[in-house]
Amino acid sequence: MLWSLCLLWAAGALAAPLNRARPKLLLISFDGFRWDYDRDVDTPNLDQMARDGVKAQYVTPPYITITSPAHFTLLTGRYVENHGVIHNMWFNTTSGQKKPYYQTLHEEEWWDNGTLPIWITAQRQGLKAGSLHFPGTAARYQGEVPLKQEQEPPLHNYKNETIWREKTDKVMGWFRDEDLDFVSLYFGEPDSTGHLYGPDSPQRREMVEQVDRAVGYIRQSADRHGLTHLLNIIITADHGMSTVHRKGTVEEITLSKIPGFSFKDVSFHLVDYGPSGMLLPKPGKLETVYNALKGAHPHLHVYKKEEMPERLRFSKNPRILPIVLYADPGYLINGYFPVQINKGEHGFDNQEMDMKPFFRAVGPVFHKNLEVGPFETVNIYPLMCHILGIRPEVNDGHLNATKHMLVSSTGKTTNYRHNAVVGLSAVAGFLLVVFVVLIAQRIFRKKDDSKMLKSSKDFSEPEKQSRL
Ligand SMILES: *[C@@H]1O[C@H](CO)[C@@H](O)[C@H](O)[C@H]1NC(C)=O
Ligand SMILES: *[C@@H]1O[C@H](CO)[C@@H](O)[C@H](O)[C@H]1NC(C)=O
Ligand SMILES: *[C@@H]1O[C@H](CO)[C@@H](O)[C@H](O)[C@H]1NC(C)=O
Ligand SMILES: *[C@@H]1O[C@H](CO)[C@@H](O)[C@H](O)[C@H]1NC(C)=O
Ligand SMILES: [Zn+2]
Repeated sequence: MLWSLCLLWAAGALAAPLNRARPKLLLISFDGFRWDYDRDVDTPNLDQMARDGVKAQYVTPPYITITSPAHFTLLTGRYVENHGVIHNMWFNTTSGQKKPYYQTLHEEEWWDNGTLPIWITAQRQGLKAGSLHFPGTAARYQGEVPLKQEQEPPLHNYKNETIWREKTDKVMGWFRDEDLDFVSLYFGEPDSTGHLYGPDSPQRREMVEQVDRAVGYIRQSADRHGLTHLLNIIITADHGMSTVHRKGTVEEITLSKIPGFSFKDVSFHLVDYGPSGMLLPKPGKLETVYNALKGAHPHLHVYKKEEMPERLRFSKNPRILPIVLYADPGYLINGYFPVQINKGEHGFDNQEMDMKPFFRAVGPVFHKNLEVGPFETVNIYPLMCHILGIRPEVNDGHLNATKHMLVSSTGKTTNYRHNAVVGLSAVAGFLLVVFVVLIAQRIFRKKDDSKMLKSSKDFSEPEKQSRL
């Protein structure tokens, strides 16, 4: 009786702080949500989230500002030249083969190039991770996958609001029923609408209203699943969107029309993909190609790979081709003739304000009603590792850039340590009680048995109650 009471008390003392210690984290990306998209749309749910949490003025994505590279930076905290997912398209310069975005999601070696996404790191340190539709979800990393892993099927309807709600509830179910610690969740809008109609269109504004409703639904669903007190939610994006100058109003960039340039001098090219391009000149043709293109158009930037501006961090990777091209906002890089019809594009210099995504965060670890200045998205990874209490892999971010958003600057890593201390104290306390009880038994046994029982009861009862 006495022993079981002591054991019960000790179990309670140990379990309580450990349960409380596990913060959960949901990372959400709304593809192509530019930092200022809430300025010309009524967004009551995003506004409420800002009052309940943290809002950054904007964040700076890595270059190249396209979907797969920028999302992999969110998951790894590394610049694109360091994580190796340098494009949305897998390609082979020998065979000339290219795979479009969706097929590349399933091209494992493209993703698993030496950098571990946060799911794998979290799981190696005892947590449970999941990912729904986030770019990179379909691959294995060093043979490992997130516990819950779903990539969207081909021809997925990225804008169906009913599907958005189903995705949301599924993820909340993972947190509640499977006790996941970290999940990344992806929505393909407002990117598609921004491309199709342009960032200044009424269609884009309507889609932002839909995103706002989704944000309201996400928070409501978290509440419905009983998660509000432990779930932290970060909402951000991979890049922004910029209006493409209309045909006829500007001089377009078409490589085949540039004097001295010939596609006969390149053995592989990646152009007609928004404002960026890469070329592999044939042997001995590097200077010819470079000299023909450099300065050929006032809005075309041409670099040899190793001469890329350092700040872009898009140079030191064997996958990047010898000549890198990018255009100023409003311009696209066309190959033989213009084939691109989008009214909005991204992929531009990450310094351009149009390329900056939004950032919001809410949950028990975050300050309330706090607006912070801009920071680079490489810093989201160390922040997430800190919240989850895991050791980050080598990365290009720093907690310094984001820790002022947290209620306690010491954060959860130290909380784990704190809890270990509490746990150990509980064990020590338990052993002390056992020791005292044993001594008492020895003393009382020599005297009066009924007295002993009473005194030990007095002993354990208030101790146990203080733990309830
Ligand atoms: C690239 O294509 C060449 C020629 O078809 C082939 O030999 C090589 O294995 C391919 N490389 C990859 C990584 O697929
Ligand atoms: C990364 O990919 C390149 C080829 O694209 C390959 O040569 C290299 O070995 C890969 N590195 C790792 C660590 O997978
Ligand atoms: C949206 O998805 C739901 C659920 O899958 C489906 O029933 C509905 O028909 C879809 N709506 C549209 C407009 O595609
Ligand atoms: C982070 O902040 C600490 C304390 O202010 C400082 O010593 C350190 O150099 C900073 N590190 C970086 C990478 O900014
Ligand atoms: Zn994108």
